[in-house]
Parts: sequence; C-alpha cells; structure tokens
Amino acid sequence: MKSVEFRGVTKRFRSEAILENINLVIPSGKFFALLGPSGCGKTTLLRLIGGFEWVDKGQIRLGEKDITNLPSNQRSVNTVFQNYALFPHLNVFDNIAYSLRVRGLENEVIRKRVGKLAEAFGMDRHLYKDISELSGGQQQRVAIARAVINEPDVLLLDEPLAALDSKLRERLLVELSDLQELLQTTFIYVTHDPSEALSVADQMAIMNNDGDIEQIGTPREVYEYPVSSFVARFVGTTNILRGVFVIKERAVGVEVPGIGVFLLDPASVAAGSFSESCLTAGEGAAAFISIRPEKIMISRRPIEGMEPKLTGKVETKVYYGHSTMYQVRANDTVVLRVFEQNEEHVRQEIIDYDDPVFLYWLDKNVVVLER
Ligand SMILES: Nc1ncnc2c1ncn2[C@@H]1O[C@H](COP(=O)(O)OP(=O)(O)O)[C@@H](O)[C@H]1O
Ligand SMILES: [Mg+2]
Repeated sequence: MKSVEFRGVTKRFRSEAILENINLVIPSGKFFALLGPSGCGKTTLLRLIGGFEWVDKGQIRLGEKDITNLPSNQRSVNTVFQNYALFPHLNVFDNIAYSLRVRGLENEVIRKRVGKLAEAFGMDRHLYKDISELSGGQQQRVAIARAVINEPDVLLLDEPLAALDSKLRERLLVELSDLQELLQTTFIYVTHDPSEALSVADQMAIMNNDGDIEQIGTPREVYEYPVSSFVARFVGTTNILRGVFVIKERAVGVEVPGIGVFLLDPASVAAGSFSESCLTAGEGAAAFISIRPEKIMISRRPIEGMEPKLTGKVETKVYYGHSTMYQVRANDTVVLRVFEQNEEHVRQEIIDYDDPVFLYWLDKNVVVLER
C-alpha cells in the first residue's frame, strides 16, 4: 500500500486541457473514490497513475517516489476495467494465476495463493471453468482477483461494476470493501454513481465537468457539507436558495427575498468548510444555501412549540415506496422539495396535492455554499 500524489498535473489531448493543475493526495491503504460526471476526465486521471498516459505538466508520486516518467510495467499498480478484459482462452485458475506464472513462482505456491483468494471471493468452486461459462458478476470477481494476486501497492478500479445489475452491484461493492480491508491495498475507485462512492469510500473526491476537483472529504462531509452547488446536487437531491448574509442578534443568517431569514447554526458553520466565506463575506454579500429534502419536516397543521420556517402549498406529490416526495411552493419563485419516510406510525394525516403545509427544519441543516 502506498499513497498517490498529484502535484500540479496538467493533461492535454491535442491542445485541450482535460485536467488542469490537479493537486490531490490519495491516502495510503484506504478505499478512495473519484466521483464525477461522464467525460470529466476520471479515466484519464487513472491512466496517468497506471502509466498509460503521460502528463504535460506536473508530477505524480507513488509513496515517496516520483513516478511521472516511469513506464507502466515498473509501477506497482494494477487496473480493473469495466469490461473485465480477461484472457478468454484461459480458465479461471489460469487467469488469476497469470501474473504469478510470469514471475516464475513455483506451482505449489501459485496453487495456494490462487486457492486462498478464490475462496475469499466465493469462486473456489469455479476455478476450472472457462470464462465463457461465468456470469458477469463472476467474471468481474475473476478480474479483481487477477489484479490483486501479485499484491500491487495500488489498485485502480475504473467503473468496474457499471455493467452489472443493481442488486449484484451492491453485493460486489460490499465484497470489494471487505477485500480492501483484508489486503489494506490503496484502492482508487472511479465512478459516476454517487451512491457507490458514498457507500464504500473512506475518502472521496468530486470532479466537475471541467475536470477540476471541487471537494475532497469523507462521504459524510461531502454529503452534509457540500462546498458548492455542483457538489450538493451531484451527490444527492437538494434545495438551493439564493439570498444575502445578514447579522441578526449577533447570529449569522441568510435572508432570502420574499421568504425570510434563515439562521445558521454556529456549530455547523464551524464544522463546515464554508465558515470562512460566510464570516468574511460580510453583511449584504450574496449567499447560496442548501437544505436537503430529507432534513425538512412537513405538516398540515402547525406543530406546537415550533416555529415553522416556511408555509406553502403542495404542488406535486410522488410516491417512491420507501418515501414520498412533496414539492411545496412557497411563493412565485421558491419551490422546495421534501422527502418523507413512509413510516405511517407517527403521521395521522394524509397530505395531498394542493394542501397548505408548514415546513420545519433545524438551523444546523442549512449549509452555505461557496459557489
Ligand atoms: N486518447 C484521447 N484522445 C483525445 N481525447 C481523449 C482521449 N481520451 C480521453 N479524451 C477526452 O478526454 C475527456 C475525458 O475523458 P475520460 O477521462 O475518459 O472521462 P471519464 O472517464 O470521466 O468519462 C473526454 O472529453 C474525452 O473525449
Ligand atoms: Mg471513464
């Protein structure tokens, strides 16, 4: 296991900069996810680490070592691709054993190591099958086993589960996460699917359409304290309101015209990475705030002892099984989305289309965005 570091890396194709001045530290021995929309440069970044592309500017380091100009076969880095890329003429055992054979290890050693890994992956019963006899999920397990058998310092995974159905994807994600914990190899997992990144990563980076890294943090930090509207929207659904900073009775808030003042919780201002912009911008400066739909409570009646943040009218109601989504119009320009769990043991009332409603949330769930 080793860390990977990008120092001021720029990568151009023809004259277009796909990645520009990337500075990124991927910690050693962790499950790191790189999340971003299709075409933003994720595969390019992985290929630079793997040594399949060359930087135009900057430096890439593996642990203490500058590997910027090192050929791919001299980097202790392996890759798992979306399309498996297995050797079709070799059976499962020989696919997994391939790199050990190249290194000339003894048959007995190879048998033991392949057997152990195959068992961890539930593939021990399939070792002597042809690749064509395997399902997609089984093929991807073989591809992963083949990539980790020679214990690389870093494993690159480029959307490895994208071709599988969602139930299988969930299961393989858990297996991958267990494998990473077992091996303690640095995993760099690229995906355009936020739920994959949020559910398995120790740390994650979010890349925007221009190939810039917008935020790095734990899944929780990124989801709860997005720095920008791009991140807030990309990792989930949110409500973004535009207003100006105000100071009210020594508390900081954001006033949204025609709606009201939403105070910010000092503790969460300090916890979030937005504290500086919020406190230095000063009164009257433009502000964007984000409130996630699941942080909002909706009620047809006022709730005793609680001040509603907003009142409005239900404009749309969508049943999702586990939850219901309400779109509530507060005025001509402001519409908020609310998610409510369909638990039904607390709620006594049914909320319908056109109903007037009261909305409640905690100050700490109002997040100021930097842009
Ligand atoms: N070998 C190449 N030559 C020219 N352009 C490329 C090449 N590889 C990728 N690109 C371009 O770089 C951009 C980023 O691609 P890629 O890294 O594959 O994105 P992602 O993996 O995030 O979908 C795209 O616009 C793509 O067309
Ligand atoms: Mg890609």
